[in-house]
Amino acid sequence: MAQSGEIVFEGVSKSFTDGSIPAVNGVSFRVAAGNMVVLLGPSGCGKTTLLKMVNRLYDPTEGKIWLGGQEIHTLPVNELRRHIGYVIQQVGLFPHMTIRKNIAVVPRLLGWDDQKIDARVEELLDLIGLPTSYLSRFPRQLSGGEQQRVGLARALAADPSILLMDEPFAAVDAINRERLQGELLGLHCKLAKTILFVTHDVEEAFRLADKIIVMRAGKVVQYGTPIEIVTHPADAFVEDLVGSNNLLRRLSLVNVQSILKAREEMGIPAVLPEADAEETAVLRPEDDLRSALSLLLSSGRDTLRVENASGIPLGEVGFSDLRSMLFAAPSSKKKNCQ
Ligand SMILES: Nc1ncnc2c1ncn2[C@@H]1O[C@H](COP(=O)(O)OP(=O)(O)OP(=O)(O)O)[C@@H](O)[C@H]1O
Ligand SMILES: [Mg+2]
Repeated sequence: MAQSGEIVFEGVSKSFTDGSIPAVNGVSFRVAAGNMVVLLGPSGCGKTTLLKMVNRLYDPTEGKIWLGGQEIHTLPVNELRRHIGYVIQQVGLFPHMTIRKNIAVVPRLLGWDDQKIDARVEELLDLIGLPTSYLSRFPRQLSGGEQQRVGLARALAADPSILLMDEPFAAVDAINRERLQGELLGLHCKLAKTILFVTHDVEEAFRLADKIIVMRAGKVVQYGTPIEIVTHPADAFVEDLVGSNNLLRRLSLVNVQSILKAREEMGIPAVLPEADAEETAVLRPEDDLRSALSLLLSSGRDTLRVENASGIPLGEVGFSDLRSMLFAAPSSKKKNCQ
């Protein structure tokens, strides 16, 4: 299988019983390698069914799926799954196995030697930020959030090019959920994997996604960047989802990074202002635009510098960006599927 993590769905449908309305209905989209794409939609709209077709837990009734340029049925299923990490909602750690054994499940299946497995397990533990003393514990001796991290480490063990994550943080409390989202964003930057992430939490989707696929009743309603979805919702359903009549809510869904990325995609060079002595307020890429607005208002400036956590300037964001976000001219309400 080509190592590239591109995912392509072409006219994919899945019915569970003959003649019933398909759970996934004529879905086509393309996820570029290295992108984090979030599937967002209400309960029962077909998100899990769609995800399970990628690693062939379900087979489509119609249509085709390609990973890295290869149609998935042309590969032996074990070979296919070796390139795909899968994190499920209930974590699914094996309760009678230690954390070490849980993380090592796939490498062991692949016949790695003990030394290589031990080195990989310790590397992953470091990546998810848990101490090595946890390796001899059992899942029940970990908090829900810690178990989720181990689930992620297990999915990453054989270094897959694609990660499928089905509501991985749904059972975690709000504070830990936000922390895990931040960690996932950090890991995504570091590891550059293609991630398909399922949620029905609108805030979570907008926080994590390079692009969002909005689903409803088995169909893709809209596929676009967070900015595109907030500024040009495809229909009344998406409008309700993003609170089109509520300006502050719309601002809270989009972060500073999305503005910088959109400019980059349009070929607009970043302005990297020098720090000036009076400047106290700076924005971080992960700040949402509602916080940016409040900082702009309190600083009395028209624009603010954006810096990463190491103090490296990334550009600037100002009132004009917020205005164009909120008052973008509505485009034709065509579907934005690729
Ligand atoms: N194994 C199955 N057999 C029959 N019907 C199924 C099966 N799995 C899912 N369905 C049906 O397919 C539809 C989509 O289910 P799916 O699990 O994909 O939804 P979902 O979007 O993941 O929902 P949730 O957010 O609640 O997890 C539902 O109507 C469900 O009842
Ligand atoms: Mg589901």
